[in-house]
Amino acid sequence: MPKKSIRPFLPFGDQQTAPWYGKAILSVKQFNRNDLEYIIGVAHEMRVMVERVGTFDLLKGKILANLFYEPSTRTSSSFMAAMQRLGGAVIPISEVRYSSVAKGESLPDTVRTLGCYADVIVIRHPEIGSAALAAKHAGKPVINAGDGAGEHPTQALLDMFTIREELGRLDNLTVTMLGDLKYGRTVHSLSRLLTQFDGIKLNYVSPDILRMPKDVMDEVAAKGVAQAQSPTLDGVLPKTDVLYVTRVQQERFEDPAVYSKVKSAYIITPEVMAPAKEKMIVMHPLPRVAEISMAFDPDPRAAYFRQMEYGLYVRMALLAMVLGKA
Ligand code: CP
Repeated sequence: MPKKSIRPFLPFGDQQTAPWYGKAILSVKQFNRNDLEYIIGVAHEMRVMVERVGTFDLLKGKILANLFYEPSTRTSSSFMAAMQRLGGAVIPISEVRYSSVAKGESLPDTVRTLGCYADVIVIRHPEIGSAALAAKHAGKPVINAGDGAGEHPTQALLDMFTIREELGRLDNLTVTMLGDLKYGRTVHSLSRLLTQFDGIKLNYVSPDILRMPKDVMDEVAAKGVAQAQSPTLDGVLPKTDVLYVTRVQQERFEDPAVYSKVKSAYIITPEVMAPAKEKMIVMHPLPRVAEISMAFDPDPRAAYFRQMEYGLYVRMALLAMVLGKA
C-alpha cells in the first residue's frame, strides 16, 4: 500500500485559509490530538526536505524577529536555522542589553516595533505570561520560546516528535520525569501535552522541594492520566519507556545554599541505567550540567542529542504553519 500523502506545503495556495495562519503559539493547551498529528506530519516532511535538499524557499521573503531576554543556545539557533533553511531572513536580538530594552523600553513597545519589521516573532522572557502579553501587542504571530517557569511549548512539541521518531508511538508509554520539576518549564508543557495520548503513565521523580506543581498535576489528573511521585528512581526505572531528565535551574533559586543541597540529587550513569529496558530512550531538553554523565552518551538509548536535531524540523513546521505555508 502506498503511504498516504499528507501534502503539508501550500506554496501557491490562499495562505489565509491555512488553519494556523497568523496564530500565536503560546501554550500546549492550544493543541488537540489532530493538531499534534498534523505537526508531526509536517515536521517529518521538513526532515525529509532538509536531508534531501538542505535549504528551500518555502518562506522566501518572510522575516523572523528572534527576541531573547534569557540565554539560549538550542531554541534561539534552531529557530534562526529553521527560518534560513526555509529561505527566510532573521532579525536576531539575543543581547537585549544592546537594544532599546536597556533604555527602559517596555515589552509591548518592543514587540510593537518588531511587528513593524517582521512577519513572526519568537520570544523568550523570564516572566510567566510574557509571551501572551507580547502576542497582544505585536500585531504578528508570536511564538513562546519559554516564559520563565511557565511553558516552553515548542520544546514539548519537539519532545513529542522525538518520542514518535525514536519509539514509533505516542500511546501506551510510561514517561518518567526526573530532576527539577518545579521550575523546569519543559516538563510542565510536556506532561500537559502527553494527556492527548492514550495509555500514558507519568512518574515524577524529584527532591521534595522541586516537585511538579499542583496546578499542572491537577490539569493532568482532570484528563484521566495516571501520575505517581517518588523521591528515587528505584522501582520506576525498569518500567520506563522515556526517561526525561532535567537540569536543576540554578537561576530560579533565591538562596544559593538551597540550590547546592539539591543540585546533584540525581546523576544518570551507565550503572544507574543498568535496570532500564533495552528499548527505551533518555531525553533531556539540554543544557545539561552534571545530571547525565558523559559516560552514558555513547549508549544508543541516549536520545538527547538527536532530540536537539528534531527541534529544527518542528520549528520549521511551526514557522511554516503560522505563516500560512503548511
Ligand atoms: N532546551 C532549551 O530550551 O535549550 P536552550 O536554553 O539552549 O534554548
